[in-house]
Amino acid sequence: MTATVSSKLLDWYDGHARSLPWRARPGEAAPDPYRVWLSEVMLQQTTTAAVAPYFAKFTETWPTVEALAAAADEDVMAAWAGLGYYSRARNLVKAARAVAEMGGFPETEAELRKLPGLGEYIAAAVAAIAFGQRAVVVDANVERVVARLFAIRDPLPGARKAIRAAADGITPDERAGDFAQAMMDLGATICTARDAKCLLCPLMDECKGRAEGDPVALPVKAKK
Ligand code: ADE
Repeated sequence: MTATVSSKLLDWYDGHARSLPWRARPGEAAPDPYRVWLSEVMLQQTTTAAVAPYFAKFTETWPTVEALAAAADEDVMAAWAGLGYYSRARNLVKAARAVAEMGGFPETEAELRKLPGLGEYIAAAVAAIAFGQRAVVVDANVERVVARLFAIRDPLPGARKAIRAAADGITPDERAGDFAQAMMDLGATICTARDAKCLLCPLMDECKGRAEGDPVALPVKAKK
């Protein structure tokens, strides 16, 4: 099923990818790592709709990582106002300065992890999306899609290990960045938390959660 899932999903993505400002522009082979990183930091706790105007403002004011590295801390904090989780902005400037000093973004997940604010998720997302590395990218959307696809019924957070292993098993060697973004788009538009529009889903025939009749019940959350 592994190859079937990734090829069906990538085919779907080729026709249905959301047009988002940080993705590669038409004619571009790969998106700009600076824009990928900036967007992933902003998106980690914030929706795409809320991020879009901030992303536009940041990239107009500081079009490159070098420009951001040279910015005054207070200007960046002021531009971030309203997005919340201000440690993200503080780490953003620190990481920009480190990257500028290195002469550009490192390209592997392990090297990216060493930068301030780049946790497991962002390092994997940047490695895959900006640099085409095979990395397993798991955010809340991906977690939900994978839990449903494989009918993983153990409650979160305990199920995370099994979900990550299952995500690893379906991540292709090529186009891992598109694959990750396709999973996110599927989770944001079709396989949503409240709904599962299975008839529109490219993975309908592969989905164990659908076969078992209750995809929306997954993932199960541990009772507090
Ligand atoms: N959420 C976080 N990163 C994203 C991305 N690259 N595409 C779509 N949704 C996202």
